[in-house]
Amino acid sequence: PPRPKRGLGKLSDVCKGCREVIDKVKEHYSQTWKKQEENSLKFRSRLRRKCNGFDMAIITQENTPIGSELVYDANMWKKLKVTRELFNMFAKEHPFETKRLDTCALVGNGGILTDSRCGKSIDSAQFVMRCNLPPLKNGYEEYVGIKTDLVTANPSILMQKYGSLMNRRRPFVESLQIYGNALLVLPAFSYSFNTAVSLRAAYTIEDSNSPVRPVFFNPGYLQNLSVFWRNEGLKPGRLSTGFIMTSLALEICDNVELYGFWPFGNHPYQLYPLSNHYYDDKKATPVHAMPAEFNILLQLHSEGVLKLHLGNC
Ligand code: CDP
Repeated sequence: PPRPKRGLGKLSDVCKGCREVIDKVKEHYSQTWKKQEENSLKFRSRLRRKCNGFDMAIITQENTPIGSELVYDANMWKKLKVTRELFNMFAKEHPFETKRLDTCALVGNGGILTDSRCGKSIDSAQFVMRCNLPPLKNGYEEYVGIKTDLVTANPSILMQKYGSLMNRRRPFVESLQIYGNALLVLPAFSYSFNTAVSLRAAYTIEDSNSPVRPVFFNPGYLQNLSVFWRNEGLKPGRLSTGFIMTSLALEICDNVELYGFWPFGNHPYQLYPLSNHYYDDKKATPVHAMPAEFNILLQLHSEGVLKLHLGNC
């Protein structure tokens, strides 16, 4: 795994905007964080009322019957009629426990996790959520742990790493072993060009008897969520996977702890340069507004609604 330069650094040229957010962190981020029950309940019930992720985040046979139309949330002029074959691929019912989960750890992929030693703390959560099929082996366990109850898969990974699953499928199936019987959430109906490859991923998992459980994000929920956040003041743009999962976690878990969310090029305290991910330095796509999302996460941290981990564990 890549290791950051140790010791004090200075803000790199690309991270000039970090000064403001680092000052905000100093002001609003407290390691001796305390949950504020009232704020948490209020926020959760607002999310529930407007988005109902608990029942709607994942497509199920209950919320999406045969003959209904899926409206792509990123190409809203495109629709897809639910055939019996497609319906058979949907989860029978919503996949979350009826009782709320106690503690959920949500792991973003930020380079701030490198050398964080947060693996044990992450693995001690009741439910661990990860984004975009991240690597967990070969030394990364110490940073990010290994337990996985839910993992998302951006179809671009299926295209780039697994040849769109047009040829051999085994490398893909083998790469999933590390996630055990986790739920694998595919955004199959956000962009229409992602549907076929996402369905191929789900078929491959079924045909290979992999214990991973593929499910699909519900585009109606993603659309409602983006309206919700716009009304909360987030500027328009596609929500990042981590931000979508944070919103869902706030509905299904009593305590939400975030790791690996720091979309800036320098460490918040020692200022040494960071890679974008804990496993590579591939840059974020400009469609996301991660710094603006981070400001909201920091705000929710200071209101005691969720707990952000920025330091080492
Ligand atoms: O696909 P996407 O670019 O949204 O995500 P990713 O790079 O695989 O990382 C997963 C999530 O972690 C992102 O959606 C962000 O919410 C968060 N992240 C962050 O806060 N800071 C970073 N430097 C990288 C990712």
